[in-house]
Amino acid sequence: MAEPPTREYLYKILVVGDLGTGKTSIIRRYVHNIFSTNYKSTIGVDFALKVIQWAPEIIIRLQLWDIAGQERFGNMTRVYYKEALGAFVVYDVTRPQTFEGVAKWKQDLDSKVALPDPWGGGNIPVVLLANKSDLLQEGHGQPINHEEMDQYCQENGFSSWFETSAKDNSNIDEAARHLIQSIVAIE
Ligand code: GTP
Ligand code: MG
Repeated sequence: MAEPPTREYLYKILVVGDLGTGKTSIIRRYVHNIFSTNYKSTIGVDFALKVIQWAPEIIIRLQLWDIAGQERFGNMTRVYYKEALGAFVVYDVTRPQTFEGVAKWKQDLDSKVALPDPWGGGNIPVVLLANKSDLLQEGHGQPINHEEMDQYCQENGFSSWFETSAKDNSNIDEAARHLIQSIVAIE
């Protein structure tokens, strides 16, 4: 019997959040499985590609757009957001002011990008990442209240949230799988 034909999909995913929250680190961990403590702020936007065998006959190419935190104050995000199908908003669990940035990034996304018309044109799925969870375990910052976070996500239109660590490689694959699943479910 002939093998079923392989289907390939290309998903453009945005990674946004305030300066130094760990966007580049999460992507480097996810795509190359590396981590560095050196901080080199992203300028403008960077790209990475992750190819996933989603099912035996389905390949998904995730085109990750790593947008500099600084860009919230620039005027390029509308251009960067074009044709994206999903997004991560990242904050740093040890710096509460970066959580204030979360709502601003979400608002920026919702006002500038929508699903393609055949999919109904609504907001793209967005997953919230509470990053640097390894530092919480070391006693930095306030522990996360899970119920409050669930409620925050529901009220603000996030499809879910994950506590991640680029350093420890914790929960990044799970968060990505959840976002892909949310996109697949729309099609
Ligand atoms: P911009 O490009 O300036 O917007 O920052 P960014 O969000 O890309 O942050 P980046 O990934 O460059 O990380 C900033 C700093 O946080 C670096 O020193 C990283 O090593 C550190 N960092 C990132 N993720 C983690 C993490 O999960 N745990 C710990 N302990 N440090 C992290
Ligand atoms: Mg960066």
